[in-house]
Amino acid sequence: MGISVRRLSYGLGAEILGADLSRTLSDEDIAQIRQAWIEHGIVLIRGQDITPEQHIAFSARFGTLDDHAALFKYRHPDHPEIFLVSNKPKADGTPSDTRNTGVRWHSDLSYTLRPAMGSLLFCREIPEVGGDTMFANTYLAYDSLSEGFKRLIGPLWAVHTFEEAVRETEGVRDPANIAAMKKVNRPVMQPMVRPHEETGRKTIYVSTGVTTHIVGMTREESQPILQYLYQHCIRPEFVYRHRWQRNDLIMWDNRCTMHKAVGDIPSGGIRHMHRTTVLGTPSGQLYEGA
Ligand code: SIN
Repeated sequence: MGISVRRLSYGLGAEILGADLSRTLSDEDIAQIRQAWIEHGIVLIRGQDITPEQHIAFSARFGTLDDHAALFKYRHPDHPEIFLVSNKPKADGTPSDTRNTGVRWHSDLSYTLRPAMGSLLFCREIPEVGGDTMFANTYLAYDSLSEGFKRLIGPLWAVHTFEEAVRETEGVRDPANIAAMKKVNRPVMQPMVRPHEETGRKTIYVSTGVTTHIVGMTREESQPILQYLYQHCIRPEFVYRHRWQRNDLIMWDNRCTMHKAVGDIPSGGIRHMHRTTVLGTPSGQLYEGA
């Protein structure tokens, strides 16, 4: 029996049924999953009892995998292709550095010159309730702007920084690790309206979690425009909220979606995730301004 696809919500998302990622899928099945991914922005595949090697092998069918050099302190010790997102305490009992990863809206690695094309997050442990992730469709957000606002933001670029990406987690992460990673992640600027390279559709490419200001404007001047876009992008009808089950895998297209870990983990609850990241094409420029 082949795989089938069903939609998850109005805003975005599809679930793939009938796929077993512990086996090597046929090229036809991969093409069907890829098609659903491009069409629906995110794809959910439930009930996958897979090893890190199988997670990596499946992810690599969609492109070249990142070795997470930009986040080198948070890689899996044996698999650099796996980025750890976990609130499991470290072996010495101290809190995990990645327990607050992605709690503000963002598109993965937009603060680098090679933002992620896709990310594949696999749930290894999840509490009985909470630990949800929200996803927003940035095509719908762009399409529903007025023509006047589209003209206003069309030529603008915005600054994205690693520093902003970790700002709210200061005091949570080890400062020596943050300082080491800041050195390899200099500020970049990205177009605020970014066409998706496969569909040609335009998307909004700014996010609360990473963007600091609009190029050529002060931070204060930028805020009204950015804040409007941040709120607009996450209108409920553009969003899907995922309630994880152990062994769920979600793959999202970072070029037309944003996401956010809700952070609704009950006290003592363990949430342990593995993420692989498919490299995108180069985008943006280094930002040399203040
Ligand atoms: C991420 O931002 O890559 C992780 C999101 C999540 O843990 O829900």
